[in-house]
Amino acid sequence: MTKKMINSVLLVIGTIAFLSINSCKQQPPTDLSKAALIPLPVSIEAGGGSFALYDQTKIYVSSESNEAFDVGIYLAGLLKPATGFGFKVLPTNAIPDNGNIFLILSGSQTQLGDEGYELVITDEIITIKAFKPAGLFYGVQTLRQLLPMEIETKSQQQISWHVATGTITDYPRYAYRGSMLDVSRHFFGVDDIKRYIDLLAAYKMNVLHLHLSDDQGWRIEIKSWPKLTTVGGSTAVGGGKGGFYTQEQYTEIVNYAKERYITIVPEIDLPGHTNAALASYAGLNCDNKKRELYTGTKVGFSTLCTRNENTYAFVDSVIRELAAITPGPFIHIGGDEPHSTEKEDYIYFINRVQDIVQLYGKQMIGWEEIVQADLKTNPVVQYWANEKYALKAIEKGAKLIMSPAWKIYLDMQYDSTSPLGLHWAGYIEVDSAYLWDPAQYVDGISDENILGVECPLWSETLLQFDDIEYMLFPRMPGYAEIGWSPAEKRNWEEYKVRLGKHSAWFEVKKINYYPSDKINWQE
Ligand code: ACM
Repeated sequence: MTKKMINSVLLVIGTIAFLSINSCKQQPPTDLSKAALIPLPVSIEAGGGSFALYDQTKIYVSSESNEAFDVGIYLAGLLKPATGFGFKVLPTNAIPDNGNIFLILSGSQTQLGDEGYELVITDEIITIKAFKPAGLFYGVQTLRQLLPMEIETKSQQQISWHVATGTITDYPRYAYRGSMLDVSRHFFGVDDIKRYIDLLAAYKMNVLHLHLSDDQGWRIEIKSWPKLTTVGGSTAVGGGKGGFYTQEQYTEIVNYAKERYITIVPEIDLPGHTNAALASYAGLNCDNKKRELYTGTKVGFSTLCTRNENTYAFVDSVIRELAAITPGPFIHIGGDEPHSTEKEDYIYFINRVQDIVQLYGKQMIGWEEIVQADLKTNPVVQYWANEKYALKAIEKGAKLIMSPAWKIYLDMQYDSTSPLGLHWAGYIEVDSAYLWDPAQYVDGISDENILGVECPLWSETLLQFDDIEYMLFPRMPGYAEIGWSPAEKRNWEEYKVRLGKHSAWFEVKKINYYPSDKINWQE
């Protein structure tokens, strides 16, 4: 054989090998019930066929609603980079042709509630129906997980984009499904917060609680009290340079979150956890002396001067300015660990702050200790450690956010070898994080008392976004499932298989996750 002939033969063999590897990889999925969806939907009926996106697929939206149209634009933005297809978004009154995606906002889909959706995939068309735009958004998140995970890449991929056919009907268990990020102990900038929001949204979480002030740093600009940020925001745990959000940057975060159906809950922690404020203004201290900035990790040593009217002028300004830039219904006033505030002063303080929050048209959330005060305005209490306070909260007519530290504090180490995190509430491996139920956790507390679930991430040991991801993943998807999926459908043995398949997604999105050996990771 001549060299040319050998080359031709090799080319043919190579081409056959390439095609067969590719066609193996490209077997279209046909069993919707095998999809590794997190959170698990309420119901899945498999159809047995498959639908393929192609270069002319369009996204039709049957609604006058701008919000529904924006969900179409968001979906196009998700699908374009990896497919390289155009995904025009168009309004319509008619049923679209085959090959397209159809988003329908329908007044008759009331049984789906404010966040539910029905996703119907046939060989011809993908339809997402919802009563409210939020439902369309969550249908889109489900569709996103049904596509090959290469859909998450930012560059064009030469693969086919099939989805198994069938019908998914889905709605959340709890209205409040959140995560808290402590930006006070260490500060994280706007781009980091946007990435955090995107990661939450992909798992159908709908609240980001920002812990904006603590002993080590004040992180939100208050125009009438500028030293809070110029002084109080100037450092962090370990003595780093700190930082803060201007009101414009905060608004940018709020808007970015809103486009992803996430409500920002801002927290100003009062009357303890206030050293950064006490270091900024002498007049907030009972002895009228400024405190030193603090860069350690102790808690419980600071308090505002609760019997001084200047303190209430301060709180009024802070809540007024914060309420004005917060479209969501809640302001979180902290209230935890008031170890340096006399009990009667604490009660007096919380009662007054409650009135201020109401004055500015917001609903108060506080950590569980606030139940010692005379709660009167539909408060929401965030349970984190003390069952007695949780029970007292429901006695006082409050709704609970369930954040039991021993199960859901994302800053707890996975085990004794974890390089990041703390362990005062034990070690929380990925199975332990999943194996509990909010309505079974405290005797006497059931679903009717619970507004929702939140996984807080305190940042004493976290310096960069990689550290945040390591604590979030793989636990956060489990918390999202606890908040969304029906309790009776949750099962660890089954969940861990689905979670194992999400590592491919983590890899594509370059998420720094903890590769727990409780999970058989499937790349
Ligand atoms: C808390 O962990 N101090 C709410």
